[in-house]
Amino acid sequence: MIWRALVWTWLPRQVLEYYADRTILRQPDRIFIAQVLIPKIVARRPKRVLALGVHYYTQRMQRTIERSGIELFTADPDARKVRWGAKSRHRVCTAAEIKSHFPGATFDVVLLNGVLGYGLDTQEELDRTYRAVAAKMEPGGLLVLGWDDNMFHDPLASGAHMAYFVEDEGLLGKSRMGRLSGLRHEDGRPATKYFDVLRRS
Ligand SMILES: C[S@@+](CC[C@H](N)C(=O)[O-])C[C@H]1O[C@@H](n2cnc3c(N)ncnc32)[C@H](O)[C@@H]1O
Repeated sequence: MIWRALVWTWLPRQVLEYYADRTILRQPDRIFIAQVLIPKIVARRPKRVLALGVHYYTQRMQRTIERSGIELFTADPDARKVRWGAKSRHRVCTAAEIKSHFPGATFDVVLLNGVLGYGLDTQEELDRTYRAVAAKMEPGGLLVLGWDDNMFHDPLASGAHMAYFVEDEGLLGKSRMGRLSGLRHEDGRPATKYFDVLRRS
């Protein structure tokens, strides 16, 4: 585990991005993010987007957002990930702490992908996160959730989000859960990744 962290902490950016292009970015959920989700977000012309949790394989997505003229902000509690955050707009904090770390800013879109079960592990912390994200959004702002059902089962099941959000059907359409059902990994395994979109009410 430690040597893996050393790899993404020290290896040159280009090497890691080359590696990402040939591995994780070929997975069905990453293709969905790159080819469907991000273009749909960009098409809405948001002013400010906050991406929670960064890594070497989120770089391409972040660049696409920034090159579209959108102000990208990022946050991750792991200080070793700073190199993968948005330049001068990255904060070392959890999703639940964004209110105090981004004073004055509100976000039109918040991306919470691949974080549930990878550090944000409990419903209690997710509830705090819903509250923190809602506090940083005007009505109409979108919270995009992407999660691996093997790691965190259905983040909407508790209903805690309903204090601040309604389910959005505008960005990705109507169906809740299973947006990737039918998609498979290259080796034939079914994808277990789901996406859902909430709109600030
Ligand atoms: C699997 S990685 C990649 C996440 C990335 N957003 C993606 O699209 O794949 C998970 C990241 O989430 C970060 N993380 C863990 N707990 C978090 C929290 N409570 N809030 C925000 N980020 C968190 C970890 O430090 C790690 O860098």
